Amino acid sequence: MKDILQELEDRRSTARAGGGQRRIDAQHAKGKLTARERIELLLDEDSFEEFDMFVTHRCTDFGMEAERPSGDGVVTGWGTINGRMVYVFSQDFTVFGGSLSETHAQKICKIMDMAVQNGAPVIGINDSGGARIQEGVASLAGYAEVFQRNVLASGVVPQISVIMGPCAGGAVYSPAMTDFIFMVKDTSYMFVTGPDVVKTVTNEVVTAEELGGASTHTRKSSVADGAFENDVDALTEIRRLVDFLPLNNRDRPPVRPFFDDPNRLEVSLDTLVPDNPNTPYDMHELIRKVGDEGDFFEIQAEFAKNIVTGFIRLEGRTVGVVANQPMVLAGCLDIDSSRKAARFVRFCDAFEIPILTFVDVPGFLPGTSQEYGGVIKHGAKLLFAYGEATVPKVTVITRKAYGGAYDVMASKHLRGDFNYAWPTAEIAVMGAKGATEILYRSELGDPEKIAARTKDYEDRFANPFVAAEMGFIDEVITPRNTRKRVCRAFASLRGKKLQNPWKKHDNIPL
Ligand code: HXC
Repeated sequence: MKDILQELEDRRSTARAGGGQRRIDAQHAKGKLTARERIELLLDEDSFEEFDMFVTHRCTDFGMEAERPSGDGVVTGWGTINGRMVYVFSQDFTVFGGSLSETHAQKICKIMDMAVQNGAPVIGINDSGGARIQEGVASLAGYAEVFQRNVLASGVVPQISVIMGPCAGGAVYSPAMTDFIFMVKDTSYMFVTGPDVVKTVTNEVVTAEELGGASTHTRKSSVADGAFENDVDALTEIRRLVDFLPLNNRDRPPVRPFFDDPNRLEVSLDTLVPDNPNTPYDMHELIRKVGDEGDFFEIQAEFAKNIVTGFIRLEGRTVGVVANQPMVLAGCLDIDSSRKAARFVRFCDAFEIPILTFVDVPGFLPGTSQEYGGVIKHGAKLLFAYGEATVPKVTVITRKAYGGAYDVMASKHLRGDFNYAWPTAEIAVMGAKGATEILYRSELGDPEKIAARTKDYEDRFANPFVAAEMGFIDEVITPRNTRKRVCRAFASLRGKKLQNPWKKHDNIPL
């Protein structure tokens, strides 16, 4: 018995050594942690239960039969984050560059199947040279098996991808189908075709970092939802994100202890909106002052900054926030902000996370680049997402709510449950200046007349009361009371039940 136990221990320690000390040192030299070190940081201490530690590949080509490391380049299993269960796979770059073989894929598929069956999130740590070149089509088949599971798990359990090294070729499509992608600055990259192929085909000279580094994907492409300084930061933040999320689509988000009075008044909010309607203010201030303890986990902070998306808690419960940001492009909606917010709203709705919307939107961004880029279809995504969402929806209009953008931003007409406005709200078809220039074109040569007309229009429409008289605004609230009113609104909606008509699935304008 003693010998058998010793053998087990020996086998385990060989498996834990991955590709050997030389390769582990190389990994560390790049500023990267190993697959196992990452899991240790991600999960609660001693909570990791490993699967398939002794799985080896079955390839016999290219002399591969002589080299069959235990685990085959990926560490898989489950554990807990602050006591809540998650499944995890972590690719081991020290074993064949973390490349994906048939058996490596089978290991990932096993934990994905278990995650869906048992209703717990999947966190995938990607650090891989892609398809295991020696295995050819068996590797491609393995990828496709993972892809299929990504699709089926979508909307059932949260799926989070953390890119902590290379992720190239078709391999990118698994993270792309998950709910969130996070990257590590300087050590991770994602692209469909690498710099060499790009050079051959398009003659463009570009580095891997420029083509698919964290900065590219968080600022330009919006493929990634956030980027962190190093592995430790990234894993700590993923733990923080998981704390906001439910385990699956039948579960409710966790209720955390909170130490922030729901009735807290924020007198400073009374002066947040400047007197001049064209002066911007920072919507982050409102979000942080309304949420519990000022805690806000922002999603896509670096992309389409004219809209802000992320998670806060109210009375310890997760709420998704969508807010126009007057500091950038005056907070208008455009292609990028519509896409960003639509995806966020759909995530919240899929996982029963209530949505709080702060509105200060002068309309859609005009211009040929927007029209040629299909702002009609992209803007419709956000409209569609809000319209189909059945979760509790509370909206606060702080200032402008003009034109179609008023309708889009979780208006009463899109089944908003509570639609509040601050006294500074202006709800109208358009701004006073634009309106008078259209209505009184013949008087444009007379600035005094136009100024009087503009003033008339402002007096009539630059307020929340016309909409309130029609019942489109449920109440005009004092800014300092916003946290209290919004907390009470969501509390009253905890029993909300709303179902859309049966359909196979909708046809959102993609
Ligand atoms: C097998 C691989 C591998 C791969 C790397 N290795 N990629 N083994 N299959 N795809 C091995 C190397 O042989 C090496 O083994 C070890 O991993 C580390 O690789 P290095 O090249 O020394 O590391 P580095 O210099 O950091 O470069 C990393 C890299 C490079 C940029 C990822 O290895 C690389 O370009 N690999 C090939 C990438 C690729 O073309 N993959 C196929 C893409 S197509 P030793 O024994 O020396 O440690 C694809 C299709 C998916 O993925 C389709 C899905 C539908």
